[in-house]
Amino acid sequence: MIPRTFVMLFLASLLAMASHAHADDWLVDADEDTRAERLSSYLGGFSSAMWEVGYRYEHMLQAIEDDNFELATYHWDKIGGAIRGGYMKRPGRQANSDALFLDAIWPIYLETLKAGDGDTIRSQLPQARDACMACHVAEDVEFMNNQPMFTRTLPGEGDANASE
Ligand code: HEC
Repeated sequence: MIPRTFVMLFLASLLAMASHAHADDWLVDADEDTRAERLSSYLGGFSSAMWEVGYRYEHMLQAIEDDNFELATYHWDKIGGAIRGGYMKRPGRQANSDALFLDAIWPIYLETLKAGDGDTIRSQLPQARDACMACHVAEDVEFMNNQPMFTRTLPGEGDANASE
């Protein structure tokens, strides 16, 4: 015979599972306005896009150092998309993003990275970095430029320019 307490425990756990399944979900069970507000605040603004850009940029530097140009290309490509995603959320940032970065060095450096010549990739890196930094100045966040991803230089970078 099954002890009574086991039956009780079994029923209690079934109940717990059922009530869990019906627990309020922050999006699914919210009304439309609340859902939009929650999504908008959780997805963040330009800084959450820049967070991704910074991460990818540092990994791109590491990939260049490792001569892994496919990985460097991958990150640089995604950086373009992340910045576009950023100004989709904050249209005020579009003009400088396009003028100083996306319509400037970004497609050029993408082609350079795809071509996979390490010397050219290293020699053009300062132009890529300068474009990031110029936009920080233009957007009044110049303090962003004083951190290792912008202040450190890779071995051999800019060499071709220096010898020209
Ligand atoms: C619109 C021009 C613009 C361009 C182009 C740009 N940035 Fe930014 N970046 C900003 C602004 C504005 C902020 C501050 C965002 C805020 O506070 O909302 C920022 C913030 C950052 C941050 C701090 C993010 C955080 O909150 O953790 C990093 C890192 C960064 N940028 C890296 C880069 C790199 C690397 C590039 C080039 C690949 C780049 N940015 C290109 C405008 C730009």
